[in-house]
Amino acid sequence: MHPPPSPVPIAIHIQHLNLWYGTFQALFDINLQVKQGIITSMIGPSGCGKSTILRCVDRINERSGTVRREGRIEVLGHDIYAPEVELAQLRKRVGMVFQRPNPLPLSIFDNVLFGHRIHRQPDERVSRQEEAELAEMALQKVLLWDKVKDRLQQKATVGLSLEEQQKLCIARLLPVKPAILLMDEPCSALDPQGTLAVEELIWELRGDYSILMVTHNMAQARRASEECIFLLMGRVIEQGPTDRLFLTPSQPETANYIEGRYG
Ligand SMILES: Nc1ncnc2c1ncn2[C@@H]1O[C@H](COP(=O)(O)OP(=O)(O)OP(=O)(O)O)[C@@H](O)[C@H]1O
Ligand SMILES: [Mg+2]
Repeated sequence: MHPPPSPVPIAIHIQHLNLWYGTFQALFDINLQVKQGIITSMIGPSGCGKSTILRCVDRINERSGTVRREGRIEVLGHDIYAPEVELAQLRKRVGMVFQRPNPLPLSIFDNVLFGHRIHRQPDERVSRQEEAELAEMALQKVLLWDKVKDRLQQKATVGLSLEEQQKLCIARLLPVKPAILLMDEPCSALDPQGTLAVEELIWELRGDYSILMVTHNMAQARRASEECIFLLMGRVIEQGPTDRLFLTPSQPETANYIEGRYG
């Protein structure tokens, strides 16, 4: 008798998630698991609820008083909606990258250190030298160091291409040491070359991070993810290994979508 295989560690576990914007129900009984250390993509037509799910995992949705939510979301085994959870702690574990790069109107150096400075303990002393090392490490990791090392004090909002800005927005998450990166169409504002460059970077980051990436681009989902979740009209239709889902989808809706029959 073989022992049962050890379960794959789960980064994000969503159970019975329902969500309403006012009276409009956007999510219906969402159940899904995002495995640790790999890239999971989330695909589906516009309006199917992809961004809404990401916003639930980061608890951005609750800023709006009209949002009502039911169900449970665990991040690394912890219920993130439990009353004792502090948002700052959650945001330390979960970093978000948005569709349009949104560098702050500060120097490149201050952008990379921004989150780290916010999340520090009040009594934590970090020397300029340590900050410089953190910034270099993060910029090296996103392959931006050689490009910007001589102009770290320049404003990040001028003189960087969109691709470079998006890499910077990924870099500034890294000193905070999140376990999970959520990415909402991180390449959709980029040209094809920038898209490939940022995709390659995201690919390099897997292993160190668990990544949940929304994409409209099915070729990107196939190239850049190991697991894939297909959503339609607020429901999970199918989740599985990306190759399997694209080659032999188990649901007719998935087959219709990947063959381009809608949206
Ligand atoms: N703040 C809001 N108030 C009301 N309805 C909203 C709000 N945000 C999203 N919705 C609606 O909820 C549904 C899901 O939206 P969501 O943005 O999650 O979709 P999406 O899959 O990310 O779409 P896209 O691919 O266009 O980004 C849509 O019908 C949308 O119109
Ligand atoms: Mg969206």
